Amino acid sequence: MASTSSSSSSFNVSLLLVSVLLGISLIAVSASNFYQDFAITWGDGRAKMLNNGDLLTLSLDKASGSGFQSNNEYLFGKIDMQLKLVPGNSAGTVTAYYLSSKGASWDEIDFEFLGNLSGDPYILHTNVFSQGKGNREQQFYLWFDPTADFHTYSILWNPQRIIFSVDGTPIREFKNLESRGVPFPQNQPMRIYSSLWNADDWATRGGLIKTDWTQAPFTASYRNFNANACVWSSGSSSCNSNSPSSASGNNNNSWFSQELDSTNQQRLKWVQKNYMIYNYCTDTKRFSQGLPPECTATS
Ligand SMILES: *[C@@H]1O[C@H](CO)[C@@H](O)[C@H](O)[C@H]1NC(C)=O
Repeated sequence: MASTSSSSSSFNVSLLLVSVLLGISLIAVSASNFYQDFAITWGDGRAKMLNNGDLLTLSLDKASGSGFQSNNEYLFGKIDMQLKLVPGNSAGTVTAYYLSSKGASWDEIDFEFLGNLSGDPYILHTNVFSQGKGNREQQFYLWFDPTADFHTYSILWNPQRIIFSVDGTPIREFKNLESRGVPFPQNQPMRIYSSLWNADDWATRGGLIKTDWTQAPFTASYRNFNANACVWSSGSSSCNSNSPSSASGNNNNSWFSQELDSTNQQRLKWVQKNYMIYNYCTDTKRFSQGLPPECTATS
């Protein structure tokens, strides 16, 4: 009974929020040009924007990796990016693609791709930090070779939940369970970051397999960025502004209250059953004092 009433009250709050926002004009920002939306932040020429901003590549060699970040900060959004990961022997390399806020009690939503020897599977590592605390790892194999082609990796982040998806298939959901004392990222705007770096001390088979520098430079590629998102600027969100910016984009705001329908719940279960290789929520050895509260919540 307690759980029913708390979830229905948070549902009411979300309905209220949505109607307020729709009444005011929720701005959807869409974009697909790297020059416009991102800045290369490190790597001394190893990161490149190509084809008039349609393509971005990161590279890694023995001297350095490279990285970029979004110009905008976002507070909620549905953010899609296509990535094609380092092919061949990528063991020891990590391609990180994530949202993060700043400061000591930061929030973060992570995709990290851990490379492997040719023919051996990448691991897709995910995590959610709220207020500086993570320890919420889930890891997956993929049902395709992520180096052979571009695939779409999406983060849906709204006030009720975070959903990680791969080519439109949900692989992980992190619900807003603040009512049970689990902090949820919802007050700190986040930027998009990505980097390619050497992590051969832990990435592949727990650090057993080292980066083969004779294969360098290693390259990962990005295209078709799309954000339906609330842009944060000078302390306010485009989603409740009375003077919408001129940003282009469709005005489909359904992502703001989106949840998994029964088909997508089935698909999530399929992925978790067949492709999940680590789940902190079942690691009773690690959490011998008791699993984190979000792991034992029933809804
Ligand atoms: C690499 O391949 C090995 C052998 O199949 C596998 O155990 C491991 O999970 C794979 N991925 C990483 C990142 O170590």
